[in-house]
Amino acid sequence: MKVLVLLAVGLAVVSAKVPGIKLHTGYEMPVIGLGTWQATGQSVRQAVKDALEIGYTHIDTAEVYKNEKEVGEGIHDAFAAGFIKREDLFITTKVWPQGSNRQKALATIHHSLQQLNVSYLDLVLIHAPLEDYANTWKGLEDAVDQKLVRSIGISNFDHRGDIDHVFNSARIKPAVNQINIHPTLNNDDAVTYSNQKGIAITGYSPLGTGGLVKNPTLVAIGKKHNKSAAQVALRWQIERHLITIPKSVTKKYIKEDFEIFDFTLTQEEIQTIHNMH
Ligand SMILES: NC(=O)c1ccc[n+]([C@@H]2O[C@H](COP(=O)([O-])OP(=O)(O)OC[C@H]3O[C@@H](n4cnc5c(N)ncnc54)[C@H](OP(=O)(O)O)[C@@H]3O)[C@@H](O)[C@H]2O)c1
Ligand SMILES: *[C@@H]1O[C@H](CO)[C@@H](O)[C@H](O)[C@H]1NC(C)=O
Ligand SMILES: *[C@@H]1O[C@H](CO)[C@@H](O)[C@H](O)[C@H]1NC(C)=O
Repeated sequence: MKVLVLLAVGLAVVSAKVPGIKLHTGYEMPVIGLGTWQATGQSVRQAVKDALEIGYTHIDTAEVYKNEKEVGEGIHDAFAAGFIKREDLFITTKVWPQGSNRQKALATIHHSLQQLNVSYLDLVLIHAPLEDYANTWKGLEDAVDQKLVRSIGISNFDHRGDIDHVFNSARIKPAVNQINIHPTLNNDDAVTYSNQKGIAITGYSPLGTGGLVKNPTLVAIGKKHNKSAAQVALRWQIERHLITIPKSVTKKYIKEDFEIFDFTLTQEEIQTIHNMH
């Protein structure tokens, strides 16, 4: 078990685990997770194992990433190596709603469980507000009833109307909305509206799918803290009380992206980043 030294608002707090955000379901979601989109085969298996060795406690995948089997192998490699136990790990996957429905969504979740080789998932999201997603939502609720899934949520629900559509008909309310957020896309309205409804936010593509790692504004802020542009972009999400899920298959980057709990951005720096949109 890694010991993480967390420096928050000038107070040195020694925490044995990654900070988390409490979901309305009562479960805690670690504020940083490893993204795995466009990571396949042995490289994603190794990346997942490396991340869990470094101290990550949260992995983000999806049915459509076609990598759940290898992600699962990486997770089981880490279990076998003693890096982490299932109860300390948070696994998110997503159901693609096009062509899905209540029954098919449940079948997709069973398939994800089998691919990942785990007995429950921490979070399952509707991947995007496409087609008859309200019907797919019922399948996610069934999976919660059957104790296959702990929390359920939505993704790419950027508009109030879509959020309302699920929220108002849901028996089990969405716990998380995973949306595109990075310094050049702050997605403020969806963040505010989701939070008003008690929905936590995960910011995806926090590095602009790699496009922001040399951004001059972020590099300049980073220099003041001896941090990289990537670390500044990720810290900005943490300071907004978001959950962030950077993707990398490079061990050096996976480690760098995790080293964001020993500095804080000033209010002025946060505003400068916010104004980059
Ligand atoms: N819900 C959705 O619809 C949705 C959509 C998009 C993404 N997501 C989730 O969000 C995750 C992250 O988004 P993303 O994959 O678009 O990209 P991202 O995390 O914004 O950026 C990833 C890219 O940045 C590089 N990188 C990572 N850390 C770095 C560092 N410290 N220095 C330099 N380069 C670095 C990676 O390189 P290497 O990999 O080559 O090391 C990769 O090319 C996804 O993997 C997925 O889990 C969800
Ligand atoms: C699934 O995980 C168990 C340990 O939890 C392991 O014994 C088994 O070999 C795994 N199955 C597959 C298909 O990987
Ligand atoms: C700056 O960061 C690097 C990489 O994390 C570290 O090796 C170095 O010791 C740091 N320098 C200072 C002055 O803190």
